[in-house]
Amino acid sequence: MKTLIVIAHPDIDSSIVNKYWIEELKKAPEEFTIHELYKVYPTEPFDIKHEQELIDSHDHLVLQFPVYWFSSPPLLKKWLDEVFLEGWAHGPNGGDKLKNKKIALAVSAGSTADDYSIDGRYGHTLEQMLIPFETTFLYCKADYRSIHAFYGEDPSNKELEHNMKNYLTFLRNL
Ligand SMILES: Cc1cc2nc3c(=O)[nH]c(=O)nc-3n(C[C@H](O)[C@H](O)[C@H](O)COP(=O)(O)O)c2cc1C
Repeated sequence: MKTLIVIAHPDIDSSIVNKYWIEELKKAPEEFTIHELYKVYPTEPFDIKHEQELIDSHDHLVLQFPVYWFSSPPLLKKWLDEVFLEGWAHGPNGGDKLKNKKIALAVSAGSTADDYSIDGRYGHTLEQMLIPFETTFLYCKADYRSIHAFYGEDPSNKELEHNMKNYLTFLRNL
């Protein structure tokens, strides 16, 4: 089983959480392919065929990103718009390539888990905030496996390590 991790972080050099996740995931290349959109496509258009073939050639797909304005950074939205095409991802003529594919999200959020609770500051969980992604995957008949998250700013090494263990368990049990 091999998982494609599509990463969309506009400023990975300043990142703590996503950078750490990437470094750790790179230690298991037989399990995880790291695909950093902002590095591969800093300015040029997507190679759509290549992106679709990458997804096809992996068992599972995970989209990893920092939460920006309760959604993803813009390049990931563009990637979804341009790669999840009718006739490939959905629609009657061959639009079944994501059918039953296990897809999940891995997200870092600057706010706390308490903020993302029904009684908290935002009144919604992060899972609820990310329902447009869930619905996109359901629309494509994929098998959506929910989210793995890191909450909060300025993480300690211990928090990062603990979260990474949970992230790996999440990925290995998709
Ligand atoms: C433009 C921008 C928008 C952000 N919007 C949110 C947000 O809506 N919710 C939130 O919890 N954090 C938000 N943050 C904080 C980031 O999610 C957080 O710093 C990031 O996930 C930490 O991961 P990293 O160390 O990999 O950069 C935002 C940060 C930026 C720069």
